Formats: sequence, structure tokens, C-alpha cells
Amino acid sequence: MAAAKEDIYPKRILEYMEGFMMSKTLFVACELGVFDHLHASGRPLTAEEVAQELGTSKDGTERLLSACVGLELLSAQSDETGRVVYSNAEMSSMFLTKSSPRSLYHSIEYNSNTIYLCWRYLTDAIREGTNQYERAFGISSKDLFKALYRSEEEMVKFMQLMNSIWNICGQDVISAFNLSQFRSICDLGGCSGALAKQCVSIYPTCKVTIFDLPEVVRVCRDHFLSEENERILLHEGDFFNDDLPEADLYILARILHDWTDDRCIDLLNKVYQACRPGGGVLVIESLLYEDDSGPLSAQLYTLNMLVQTEGRERKASEYTHLLDAAGFRDTHVHMTGKLYHSILARKMTE
Ligand SMILES: C[S@@+](CC[C@H](N)C(=O)[O-])C[C@H]1O[C@@H](n2cnc3c(N)ncnc32)[C@H](O)[C@@H]1O
Repeated sequence: MAAAKEDIYPKRILEYMEGFMMSKTLFVACELGVFDHLHASGRPLTAEEVAQELGTSKDGTERLLSACVGLELLSAQSDETGRVVYSNAEMSSMFLTKSSPRSLYHSIEYNSNTIYLCWRYLTDAIREGTNQYERAFGISSKDLFKALYRSEEEMVKFMQLMNSIWNICGQDVISAFNLSQFRSICDLGGCSGALAKQCVSIYPTCKVTIFDLPEVVRVCRDHFLSEENERILLHEGDFFNDDLPEADLYILARILHDWTDDRCIDLLNKVYQACRPGGGVLVIESLLYEDDSGPLSAQLYTLNMLVQTEGRERKASEYTHLLDAAGFRDTHVHMTGKLYHSILARKMTE
């Protein structure tokens, strides 16, 4: 039987082929401040008004706003004089404006200015099996975080990227297990302190130490911990080479996915040694399904880990294996239904 006409129209392939145009439209509208301006104006605006405020061309702005309507980021309607006016969709005001507590603005900015450039060399990454900092930015990635933190500005941007996703997923990963029994928590590679803040707000008796490289700790203190909180402490160090502070629980959020299995085991061995008996480790990562069928987000993230890091995304069983190799037992996995999930493992008392 001949295929029906709609069956031979490759809708999905066309969408994938042109998917980068959607990403770039979102990036540009965010970076130019379209959503911030429409939010601040408090009334729908014409393309001309938006262009005037942003200092952009009327024609270009009209096309950009129209594409944002197609992406359902904006809505368009005719005003009483027949002019087309634009306003933010609810999700745009909530997630795309800089000042929103749930803002993804900094994730979008980093995707646009760094990740997008690395992905240009995805073919090379797959051929060579290595990240593409050298090609994308002309810098060696022998020391991965030296490359990522190639200037203070880049470091702040990376930290804002890390911070931003926890605006929407942080509470889920920290409350996936009841952590109230752990009084002292050490967030290894705690970066901007977003998860430390979640811990102290969810568990009223815990103290959290943010452990990170010295320059990151300094930026965290200056840029991200605006209010002093005596339950959040800072500790400068290198988790591969320095002693780890003693704690009941160690958090490793998006740390293991940066590194090879061997380096993960080295780090987990150190965590195991430092951990109090009866304590544990909370691994927070995006997880691939056991049968390789998805989810697409983790499948794309593992490509991203290839172009950007030394690591990979893994399956829950692979993390369990790494934890087991370091001595941790009684491993439980909690899928949150969002991008990141939690795995809790224990150091048994003898
Ligand atoms: C991918 S980020 C994850 C940040 C944070 N845990 C989160 O999920 O938002 C990796 C973190 O590990 C830190 N890091 C990398 N190498 C480190 C080392 N040798 N010692 C301590 N921290 C390190 C980085 O500075 C960065 O904050």
C-alpha cells in the first residue's frame, strides 16, 4: 500500500535539522533583553517600541519577535489601532528574565557564548574522543578547570551557569532523601553555593561546608553569598590533592561526570576515607537509562561532556559500581522527574 502523504513528510527530521535556529533565536532574544524589557514595560509593546529601547533595527526586531511568537515565548495581538503588539508568555517572564528567582538567563548566556562554540567541533570530538577547547578557544585543556576558568569573567559566567539550574531543580535533588540525620555536610566542588543554600533551608540543623578551588571560593564569597549565614562555611582546596574536611555527608553534584572512571574512583576513595562511619555520599547527576533508550537530555549532555570535559554522563548502575569500588554500600537511586537525580550511598559502621 502506498504511504499516506503525511507519512512521507519528514517533520521530525526537519525540526532537528533546523533546531539550532530555535536555540539561537532564544539566545539572541534573551541576550538583547527582549523578555526583560517586555516584562518591565508592564504593557504589550510594538516591535518599533522594543527596537527603540534595545537600539536594534525595526525590521530585525520585528522578525525576532515574530519568531519568538512561533516558539510560544511571546504572544502577539492587535491593539485598538490595529498595530501588532507583543507580550511575554508566562514561562518567559518566569524563566527568561534576569531578575526572576527562577531565571535561566545565565544558563542561556553560557550555552550561547561557550557551549554553542564548542559544539561546532562535535565531529572532531567524536573522531578524536577528546574535548575541543583547543579548537574552540585556542587553549590547552590539560588542566580542565584552568581552561574553563581562563579568566575571572569566564569563571563567574561558569559559576552563574552552575547556579542557575538549581533555581529549578535544586530543591528536588536535596529533598530526594531525608538528609536530616546528617549534621555536617561537605559540598565538594560546591561552586556558587546554590545547593548549600538549599540544604540549610530544607534541613534546619545542618551545617554545610562549600569545598572548592581557592579562586572559586573567593568568587563564591564575593558574588554569590550575599547574606552571611553562619551555617554555611567555606573551605579552599583541591579535592584530588588536599585533605578533605571530615563530614557526615559529602555531596558530589555534577562532579563525577567531569572525570574518567579512574579519577572518579580516586576521588570516591578519598571521600570514603574522610567520611565518618554511618555517614554517606550524595551523588547528584543526570542519569542515562539502563537500556540506552534515553532520556534525550542525558544523551545530549554526554555528548556535551565529550566536547567540554574529560568525563561522561552515566547510568545509575555505573555510579553504583563506582561507589561500590570505593567501599560505599546500601546505594539508593531517586529519580526526580527533572534533569538531575540523586543517589545516596553509605559508609557502613563496622
Ligand atoms: C561542574 S561544576 C559543579 C558545581 C556544583 N557542584 C553544581 O552542581 O552546581 C564542578 C565544580 O568542581 C570544582 N572543582 C573542579 N576541580 C576541583 C578540584 N580539583 N578541587 C576542588 N574543586 C574542584 C569546580 O570549581 C566546580 O565548582
